[in-house]
Amino acid sequence: MRKLVINGGKPLTGEVTISGAKNSTVALIPAAILASEPVVLEGVPDIQDVAALIEILSDFNVHTTFEEGVLTIDPTNMLSIPMPSGKIQSMRASYYFMGATLAKFGEGVVGLPGGCFLGPRPIDQHIKGFKALGADVRNEMGAIYLSTNGQGLTGTRIYMDVVSVGATINVLLAAVRAKGKTIIENAAREPEIIDVVNLLNKMGANIKGAGTSVIRIEGVDELHGCRHTIIPDRIEAGTYLSIAAAVGEGVTVKNVIFEHIEGLLAKMEEMGVKMTIGEEDIYVAPSKDLKAVSIKTLPYPGFATDLQQPITPLLMKATGEAKIIDTIYPKRVNHIPELNRMGALGRVENDVISITGPTPLTGCEVAASDLRAGAALVIAGLMAQGTTKISNIEHILRGYSHIVENLQQLGADIQMIEED
Ligand code: EPU
Repeated sequence: MRKLVINGGKPLTGEVTISGAKNSTVALIPAAILASEPVVLEGVPDIQDVAALIEILSDFNVHTTFEEGVLTIDPTNMLSIPMPSGKIQSMRASYYFMGATLAKFGEGVVGLPGGCFLGPRPIDQHIKGFKALGADVRNEMGAIYLSTNGQGLTGTRIYMDVVSVGATINVLLAAVRAKGKTIIENAAREPEIIDVVNLLNKMGANIKGAGTSVIRIEGVDELHGCRHTIIPDRIEAGTYLSIAAAVGEGVTVKNVIFEHIEGLLAKMEEMGVKMTIGEEDIYVAPSKDLKAVSIKTLPYPGFATDLQQPITPLLMKATGEAKIIDTIYPKRVNHIPELNRMGALGRVENDVISITGPTPLTGCEVAASDLRAGAALVIAGLMAQGTTKISNIEHILRGYSHIVENLQQLGADIQMIEED
């Protein structure tokens, strides 16, 4: 089993460059299969979720090459193969093959998705959208069976009952080749949705309104190949900003679109973190005398749920009682008991996280329950005195590209080891 070992308390300095966004990439890859020619994605992060998607593509007989962040996807000979189980269940985003295979073949069988356990993660809105477009959808033995029964999909008006990134993208993928116009109302507005729409439009789709809550899609007959550069990962950027504020002695985070993390930057400023925001990078000065703040996660452009866990260790450096309410995933609290083992004073009551600070942290053995909880433990390990050993790091490697090398380059004492 791989583990991360961190000898904490080292001040970090220097630069770190953010990779392409995981949550864009995992949607852009399934989107690319809709083309009849190769699609080239640039800035693809080197993470386990991408490796898993490449294996799934290979099972669909889609040829890929992946070198230096450039992923070429050639779906020319793709086959309609049922995937009720196996690799497809290892990650959340494999659900995008539902919308994509429905649009490409008029059918698909996709195992129900796995991914991080953050409490209930229903996909009712995805299914509502597919059905509204005219698909038959059955949930049998842990897999979703989709078919248009040879009739194709027809555009319609779809109101999303909850603001969902996944459902918005999945319905977009299905609707892009439907007959006529589809209107998605109460659509999610995350930057990753704009990125997916930019790719689809480069491929020849006709989609308007991405980034607003109403997206209009005029179906087209065919999509062609193109080249597309993925947006920077706002969650990875936020994680390194939190690291920089927690243990930095002057750190620059490069390749950031600051507008994508305004919710986080506002809270860091409120805490007293001194930052200089440039066009594409953010410098974080050494931080002390931080103040506790209250955070409520919301759909974009609110404070991202994915940054709630990575900012928690920083709150342990702040004076006072901080509160976090995650309205997207109220049960996303598994990092708290692990951080408490390291000496944090965290409580969860009625889905409200309270952190009392400042508290010194001490290294110990902890386990990552999910991707962003793992990021929180890495940050806590960097802050702590002594040695922190983190297990279940597969979660972390699913989403953070070259995290060990990046932190070593900043001066951290961190290593990946094999241990039973
Ligand atoms: N929801 C429903 N029904 C649905 C879909 C969602 O009730 O059909 C609810 C969810 O339970 C949740 C809310 O709507 O309360 C938002 O969920 P959303 O569908 O937006 O989440 P997702 O698409 O499954 C993506 C990211 C997550 C991120 C969320 C929220 C990917 C692959 N995953 O998940 O990222 O937390 O949006 O922004 O894009 C992560 O990167 O660590 C991660 C978990």
